[in-house]
Amino acid sequence: MDNTLFEQVDQYIGHLLAPEDKALIDTTASTEAAQIPLISISPVQGKLLQVFARACNAHRILELGTLGGYSTIWLARALPAGGKVITLELEPTHAAVAQKNIDNARLADKVEIRVGRAMEVLEQMIASGEAPFDLVFIDADKPPYKEYFQLALRLSRQGTIIICDNVVRNGSILETGHNDERVTGVQRLNEYLGQCREVTATILQMVGMKEYDGMAIAVVEQPQ
Ligand code: SAH
Ligand code: DHB
Ligand code: MG
Repeated sequence: MDNTLFEQVDQYIGHLLAPEDKALIDTTASTEAAQIPLISISPVQGKLLQVFARACNAHRILELGTLGGYSTIWLARALPAGGKVITLELEPTHAAVAQKNIDNARLADKVEIRVGRAMEVLEQMIASGEAPFDLVFIDADKPPYKEYFQLALRLSRQGTIIICDNVVRNGSILETGHNDERVTGVQRLNEYLGQCREVTATILQMVGMKEYDGMAIAVVEQPQ
């Protein structure tokens, strides 16, 4: 597919509605310099996360998959005073780069990075009675996406918005019997969303400067 037009329109939208400041540009540069893969969301996607965070007046945000902190910065900037993003990251090197970028963006008081396997950290959060989140952004490893979503439900209240990145993956989700666990992982989530009574959900296809992909958007109707 010729993505030039989609990329150009994404640049146009970003220029008008999601311009990057120095802290965001530095975040991408430092992620690249640390030889961490550049798989962060785009500026326009960052702005979409902000729109959802503002729409639900989010004070408490949970993120799975910090990378260099790019999406974390967009999310933290949508918080009111006293608000918090808790972001989970497996790789200590990613977490260290992200912490520097968050400090550089003067968001240290609004962001807490927890290093560890998301599955274990989420189980601990549930066991310790962590207060429910207003918005959850799932963007860590793809194979356990359904399990992450189910754990996110247990950290939700009625009205919590749960957003999952990378659920279209260039359309590869149409293929059955795929041998890539990242594809079968998001297929399992998508199928679950279709029959999960606890949420109202849809999937947005996304084109632009990143690969053809999509995000699932769910609102919690009734916590488990
Ligand atoms: N949200 C980021 C991109 C995240 S990329 C942004 O848009 O800027 C996915 C991240 O999830 C990587 O940093 C990877 O190290 C992390 N990750 C992979 N497996 C994980 C796991 N089991 N638990 C927590 N984080 C994990
Ligand atoms: C991958 C992961 C992501 O979160 C993303 O947005 C793009 C690609 C990946 O693991 O390939
Ligand atoms: Mg992603």
